[in-house]
Amino acid sequence: MRQVLLKGIGGKSKIMLGVSLDKLADFFNKEKTVFITDSNVYRLYGKRFSQYRTFIIEPGEMHKNLRTVHDLYEKMLDIELDRSSYIVGIGGGVICDIAGFTASTYLRGLSFAFVPTTLLAQVDASVGGKNGVNFRGYKNLIGCIVQPEFVLCDFDTLSTLPADELKNGFAELIKHALIGNRAFFSRLESLRDAALMLDKDIMAKIVYDSLKIKTKIVSSDEKEKGERRKLNFGHTFGHAFEKSAGIRHGEAVSIGMVMEARLSNAMGLLSSQDLTRIEKMLLSFGLPVSFKGDRQTIMDAIRKDKKREESYIHAVLLDGIGRSVIKKVDMERIGGVVNDLC
Ligand code: GLY
Repeated sequence: MRQVLLKGIGGKSKIMLGVSLDKLADFFNKEKTVFITDSNVYRLYGKRFSQYRTFIIEPGEMHKNLRTVHDLYEKMLDIELDRSSYIVGIGGGVICDIAGFTASTYLRGLSFAFVPTTLLAQVDASVGGKNGVNFRGYKNLIGCIVQPEFVLCDFDTLSTLPADELKNGFAELIKHALIGNRAFFSRLESLRDAALMLDKDIMAKIVYDSLKIKTKIVSSDEKEKGERRKLNFGHTFGHAFEKSAGIRHGEAVSIGMVMEARLSNAMGLLSSQDLTRIEKMLLSFGLPVSFKGDRQTIMDAIRKDKKREESYIHAVLLDGIGRSVIKKVDMERIGGVVNDLC
């Protein structure tokens, strides 16, 4: 079993890779713990945590809101949870967000842990302490940064995921290599086939490498004042594609990463060979590198997403594969890259 440690301001988070769902009893006390999950995860894995009290919510991003949190508070009050109670969120990113936010706010904060069952949640949502819900159409507008005590990843859960869901996770994994470790990017190139087959040893290896990058960044800037913004690579523009074109998160992030890599190339930071390697890598994981859509709609979405009218954006750029920097980029230059991409 591999472990990664994240040192937050309020406490440490221990991420353990390769822990079977059959071992949950080694970590969580039956009397004190309440599991939060959704009906899909419960159908697949409910038997594996049937000894614990469990709150089941509806699956999907549309339920990541204060109404769901309110319902959970009511259930917690009904069963008289107290400050010694422990919350475990088991599921994908939405469950981690909701369970983490509910636990962090009930009685001014209960201890909690995550058992992420999607690759996206394993490499991103469960790690770093960002917990929150959507509000009036704005993603994660209400939330907090509080670290889970534990994150337990069982790679067997990946085998039930649809291909598109896996791609969401691979996009984030590639993102970590691009912003933080060139050697890891090269390893991913050579391990791609085994990764796509979900070979458990290889998954443990690449999720570990990926989380080493994320946890190092978060440990140095938990509250996202500077360094942590680098984790938004591909998302600055990816969100605009996701919102305006309704494509999946991983696809949007992939197109966003290509856009930010092309900007890096246009600004003399990233070589053309590296740009080609990045596009090849994304394509080899089944992720898109171009977009068929209206340029003006995308530009409007980029401006709107940043909630600002200025003529520039702070973008995460690549100073070569494995090294990222944050720079001001003017909208005119961004328009040029959008033209090339669409
Ligand atoms: N998902 C980006 C972050 O945790 O900061």
